Amino acid sequence: MLDVKKIRQDFPMLDGNKIMQGHKLVYLDNASTTFKPKCVLDAIANYYQNETSNSHRGDYDLCYNMDVKIEETRHSVSRLLNCENKEVVFTSGTSMSINLIAYGYGMKYLTENDEVLLTVAEHASNVLPWFKVSEIKGTKIGYIPLDESGRLTPENVEKSITKNTKIIAIAQVTNVLGYKVDIKAITKIAHEHNILVIVDGAQSVPHMKIDVKDLDIDFLSFSGHKMCGPTGVGVIYGKYHLLEMMDPLMSGGGMNAKFDMCGDVKYVNPPAKFEAGTLNIEGILGLKAAVDYLLNIGFENIEEYEHNLRQYAISQLETVPNIVIYNKEAEAGIITFNIKGIFAQDLATFLNSKGIACRSGQHCAKILINYLKEVATVRASIYFYTTKEEIDALVDALRKSGDFLDAYFA
Ligand code: ALA
Repeated sequence: MLDVKKIRQDFPMLDGNKIMQGHKLVYLDNASTTFKPKCVLDAIANYYQNETSNSHRGDYDLCYNMDVKIEETRHSVSRLLNCENKEVVFTSGTSMSINLIAYGYGMKYLTENDEVLLTVAEHASNVLPWFKVSEIKGTKIGYIPLDESGRLTPENVEKSITKNTKIIAIAQVTNVLGYKVDIKAITKIAHEHNILVIVDGAQSVPHMKIDVKDLDIDFLSFSGHKMCGPTGVGVIYGKYHLLEMMDPLMSGGGMNAKFDMCGDVKYVNPPAKFEAGTLNIEGILGLKAAVDYLLNIGFENIEEYEHNLRQYAISQLETVPNIVIYNKEAEAGIITFNIKGIFAQDLATFLNSKGIACRSGQHCAKILINYLKEVATVRASIYFYTTKEEIDALVDALRKSGDFLDAYFA
């Protein structure tokens, strides 16, 4: 059982003194980024105040200690995902992770006869890198249809597979509709056809227990900043033999064993092969603090709390006149809605005037708009530190939005 009141004390951004537009801040944009607990801020400050050094580049204690700490972070991530340390690659975030996979694996192995399957609900970072592969290699892009509620089902995956399909690249939880995809069923189907499953975990890893071995995921990407960690750091999990097959996207120091004047280069083994240049050390140390913090709270507790809060939010939002909720049945703490007759960005601006932070627009999922048949939506997204009172503040503001905006535009 999660003690939210106590948990909120860990977060300086939740100290009750943050004011937006004259109101106490109500932050409901956690699918975009999350607040950081003090242990994460301390880990970053401690690096600069007490232990600054590069990693892998010095024969002195400070540097050696940093190498140890970076490997300890890899170990925390491997505990988070149930994988091996050597299967954890540090990147700058989900976008970089998927680009690396698309360029390092896709460009190397896909041909014009091959096909990558996506869904219309994917975030830009899981679409555009594959478009690039398509542009350069001629690889076809296909879309697995969503069912009538917006869900990706294993049945539709099976129906969409052709003899040319080589990769299925899908989010475990999409950032607008928030449905949880049955990854285990999908990897089973895909692997029967020798298809790789590349999972965008940006919206799932922060919120639920993930066992990459049990789910049999080939590659998984996620970002630190959506799970209480710093910006600019993320991860690729990859099955080790796939990491060995993949080319690096970035070359430079730290990822080569030797190179000579003739241009012969020998790379080191993964994961270092993909980590050219000085690492984002402060980010990695902050990520460790974040992962350990979340593991300590327990993902079962996080999932249960968010599930209950979501149910509460839906039950309250349903009472708001003229509201249209696009994903009532979704599992994740992402609620996407409009108020009939009010443009989404106007609504979000109105909420801002009440101190409530929600995202509006297309949320980087631009193909989904055709499916939703809306030009824009408002999205409220919760985390384990969100309270019922904050949901009440949203509902209360939305109740008043119609009258206010009618008067405003009259
Ligand atoms: N990917 C982030 C979102 O969905 C930025 O809001």
